[in-house]
Amino acid sequence: MTTSIVPAAGKGIRIGSNLPKALIPIAGKPMIFWTVAAFERTPVVDAVVLVAPENFTEEFERLRKESKWEKVIAIVSGGADRQQSVWNGLQAIPKETDWVIVHDAARPLVKPSLIVATWDAAQEIGTAAIAALPCSSTVKRTFDGILVAETLDREQIWLAQTPQVFEADLLREAHEQAIRDGCSVTDDAMLVERLGVPIRLVFGDPENIKITYPIDLAIAEALINSKV
Ligand code: CTP
Ligand code: MG
Repeated sequence: MTTSIVPAAGKGIRIGSNLPKALIPIAGKPMIFWTVAAFERTPVVDAVVLVAPENFTEEFERLRKESKWEKVIAIVSGGADRQQSVWNGLQAIPKETDWVIVHDAARPLVKPSLIVATWDAAQEIGTAAIAALPCSSTVKRTFDGILVAETLDREQIWLAQTPQVFEADLLREAHEQAIRDGCSVTDDAMLVERLGVPIRLVFGDPENIKITYPIDLAIAEALINSKV
């Protein structure tokens, strides 16, 4: 069984909205509507656990009914950071779950084909796989935000996206180890890397952007409108 966890509990500080980011409308529907729709249409996905902002679980329940989501089996409350939110989601996955797909609500343009490709790669390697894109910019390291310290070898830099697919026990173990170590990170792969387990890179999708700043809303809206 494959269960997706969709962390959607962020505030969206950088986008500067009063609404939690996952509820900001894009092309007439809340962002989370588009994200869940992709998972509803992905054959390998059996169930979806949504992690909603605190005080918005009822709004998410309302959306579940209105949108006729069939795979959403639980809506849980998020935590103080993304890692805590995914942890909360992990507590709600069915115990039959063999594979977990973690995908940010903030990437509503994800395509079922990328979800399947990442899932396939994880099955093949037996541990984990993540979508990522080779970096197209020249990358500078700075220690103070004022002076350039060095240029990194772009060939070695890939930008992580979600979906990220993990063998379920492995992801649980990675989160438990992180809690024991007091380690806080921005994606789940990093927790699994700490265990020294191989993670396959899967060529991501340039359209699978993360909505972070107001400009990203305009890009997402244009992309969605170009398809419907
Ligand atoms: N997220 C979450 N719980 C948190 C923080 C983030 O579930 N406490 C989720 C967001 O909802 C998003 C994903 O993690 O789907 C990636 O986070 P990010 O893009 O940083 O979203 P926000 O934290 O909402 O944005 P910001 O950092 O600008 O506040
Ligand atoms: Mg954030």
